[in-house]
Amino acid sequence: MRTKAAVLRGIGSDWEITELELDPPKAGEVLIRFTAAGLCHSDDHLRTGDIPVRYPIVGGHEGAGVVEEVGGEGSRFRPGDHVVCSFLPVCGHCRFCARGMSNLCDMGALLVKNYLPDHTYRFHADGEDFGQMCVLGTFSQWGVVSEASCVKVDEDLPLETVALVGCGVATGWGTAVHAGDVRPGDTTVIYGIGGVGINAVQGAAFAGARNVIAVDPVPAKLAMASKLGATHTVADAETARELARELTRGVGADQALITVGLLTDEIVAAAFAAVRKRGTVVVTALAGPGKQTIALPGSELTLFEKRIVGSLFGSGNPFEEIPRMLELYRAGRLKLDELITARYRLEDVNQGYQDMLDGRNMRGLLVHEH
Ligand SMILES: NC(=O)c1ccc[n+]([C@@H]2O[C@H](COP(=O)([O-])OP(=O)(O)OC[C@H]3O[C@@H](n4cnc5c(N)ncnc54)[C@H](O)[C@@H]3O)[C@@H](O)[C@H]2O)c1
Ligand SMILES: [Zn+2]
Ligand SMILES: [Zn+2]
Repeated sequence: MRTKAAVLRGIGSDWEITELELDPPKAGEVLIRFTAAGLCHSDDHLRTGDIPVRYPIVGGHEGAGVVEEVGGEGSRFRPGDHVVCSFLPVCGHCRFCARGMSNLCDMGALLVKNYLPDHTYRFHADGEDFGQMCVLGTFSQWGVVSEASCVKVDEDLPLETVALVGCGVATGWGTAVHAGDVRPGDTTVIYGIGGVGINAVQGAAFAGARNVIAVDPVPAKLAMASKLGATHTVADAETARELARELTRGVGADQALITVGLLTDEIVAAAFAAVRKRGTVVVTALAGPGKQTIALPGSELTLFEKRIVGSLFGSGNPFEEIPRMLELYRAGRLKLDELITARYRLEDVNQGYQDMLDGRNMRGLLVHEH
């Protein structure tokens, strides 16, 4: 079949809307009609080349839709099932899955070339194979993805809104709750209040932090953070550090969570300086694999036992976290609709990313037409 999609042909080029040929699903795969896709900052890293991948590639790794066709026999899906895609595929039986660390599943290796588990591509045009961002490619009206990327969700949930839990929501929430291990009474600083950071704010507040300090240069981001659980808002990291000390009688923050758009050594140093003895810095923001983004005084690491940890998908298990997030949403304890600042047609994807970069969006959402 044919589908319209937003693709990147190489580093530095804008998103291009093009028609692609889409193969039918093989065994273990499903054809999905995508309803909506979140505009996560990570796709923009592919455009700028901050995170280079194999090009050309269909963008989008936050998405939800309806299963239209199932490949092979014995699938756990049926046509009509509603699914949210996890930006990390989960096999369920590699050594990391077996240990309950399925965010680190060995299938993550597919994200280097962005092909499906049998190492072939489903999207093509003019004899060329197109990869799928995070083996998804939710910036396409239709897509063929591995069942390992699909979490079945209740059909009464709004299929546009729930797209966000496949990356930004679960990642931000888990950055605070799992990787940061926020405890009741804690003081937590969060740098960067975008689609990921706002959910770290929600997670920290939910876990009982006494002080949730949101840091972002954009006033509208701080206003939203206040609505969703931040107790304090500041425009820069230095003020955040001073405030954290003030609020803790000079001790420092329990956690410093980094969710800025592009990771830098300055922000890591600021977070490291803000935490107390045995406090935790969580690095969720991304930069290119070739960049040195951490330069810290090692003596402080040792003498104050400060901890610095990376976090992928909020360090949770996608097949556990996505349903959990949706249960909290259903119960009114987790806000999702409020996170969607603007909706875009596929053709307006470049505008959507410009709005993100200009600080206009908490999260932009592509809504597909079929
Ligand atoms: N580790 C993971 O599993 C994972 C998953 C998703 C996204 N990410 C990464 O997380 C980061 C955030 O993604 P997003 O979609 O929320 O981005 P976003 O662009 O929506 O939000 C980033 C925010 O950071 C703010 N900011 C920029 N520089 C800052 C600074 N020095 N101090 C304070 N705030 C600053 C911006 O104003 C913006 O509000 C990106 O690097 C993305 O690639 C990581
Ligand atoms: Zn993402
Ligand atoms: Zn696995």
